[in-house]
Amino acid sequence: MSRLSSRHLLGLEGVPAEDIQSILETSNTFREVLDRTIKKLPTLRGMTVLNLFYEASTRTRISFELAEKRLSADTVNFSKAGSSVSKGESLRDTVQNIEAMKIDMVVVRHKSTGVPYFLTQCMDANIINAGDGAHEHPTQALLDMYTIWKKYGRLDGLRVVLVGDVKHSRVIRSNIWGLKTMGASVALCGPSTLFPYDIEKFECDSYTDIDEALDGADVVNIMRIQLERQQAGIFPSQREYTNLFGINKERLRNLNKNYTIMHPGPMNRGVEITSEVADSDKSVILEQVTNGQAVRMAVLYLLSGRKEEE
Ligand code: CP
Repeated sequence: MSRLSSRHLLGLEGVPAEDIQSILETSNTFREVLDRTIKKLPTLRGMTVLNLFYEASTRTRISFELAEKRLSADTVNFSKAGSSVSKGESLRDTVQNIEAMKIDMVVVRHKSTGVPYFLTQCMDANIINAGDGAHEHPTQALLDMYTIWKKYGRLDGLRVVLVGDVKHSRVIRSNIWGLKTMGASVALCGPSTLFPYDIEKFECDSYTDIDEALDGADVVNIMRIQLERQQAGIFPSQREYTNLFGINKERLRNLNKNYTIMHPGPMNRGVEITSEVADSDKSVILEQVTNGQAVRMAVLYLLSGRKEEE
C-alpha cells in the first residue's frame, strides 16, 4: 500500500490515478475487517481525530467516527450547535484552540467552499474534506467508485450517468473528477437550469433527456434534488422534476443488463427515485454506506502521520 501524494484530501480534482487506485485497494483490505466479529485494528492508536461538522450529516459523520474508532483513534466531535460559534468565535480561532489540545487529523464539513483548504493554512493537522459547499465531497465519490469497482472489477470503460443538480452537487463534482481519472465514461443529466455555465470544462457528455442519457449505461448514480432550489425558482415544480428526471422502473429498460442503481443519500423517495427502484436488487445504496466506512478507514490510514516536510 503506497502512501498518497498529498498529506490532505481536499478534493479529487487533480488527484493522480495511482492515489485513487491505492485508496481502492486499501479499502478492500479494511472492507474485510468489517465482516469480522471483532472489527478493530490498532492502526491509529495514539492519534486524535477531530470531526468538525458545521453542517448537518448522518452518513458521513457516523461513518467517519466509526472508521476512526475501528482504527483505534481517539475521536472528538464538534458540531456548530452548542459551541462558542454562537458567541461570535471565528473559524480560525475555533480550530486553533481545538488544535492546541493536540489534534492530529481533522475531518471537516462546511457550507462554504474552500474551508478545508483554509484549514490547511492555519493548522498542522491532516485535513480531510467531508463536503464543502458546492465544491467537492471526495470520500463520497471514493466510496461510490469503490462500490462500482468491487462489483465490476474495473472502472475503466464503464458508462456512469450522474443525474441531478450538476451545478450545486459536490458529490457529482467529485465523481466526475475521480471517475474520469480512472477511465470511466461519465455522462451528466439534469435540467439545463441546473447545469453550470462552464459545464464544458468537465469534458463529459451532458443530457437534458433522461432516456437518452440512460441508453447503454452501466451505472446510474442519482442525486438528491435539493428542494430549496425549487423555492429559488431554478426549476418549476417538484412534480415536473419527477416527471422529467425521476428514476422509475420504466426508465431503466435501456440500461445494460448488469446495471447498478446508486444514490449517496439522503433520498427523497418519490421525487428523484421511486421506492421500487431504491429497494430493488439492482440497488447498492446500503452497500455504498457499508463500503463508505472501509473507504474512510483507508483514507485516514493513508494520510495518517504525514507531516508538512514530506
Ligand atoms: N451522502 C452524504 O453525504 O450524506 P450525509 O449528508 O448524511 O452525510
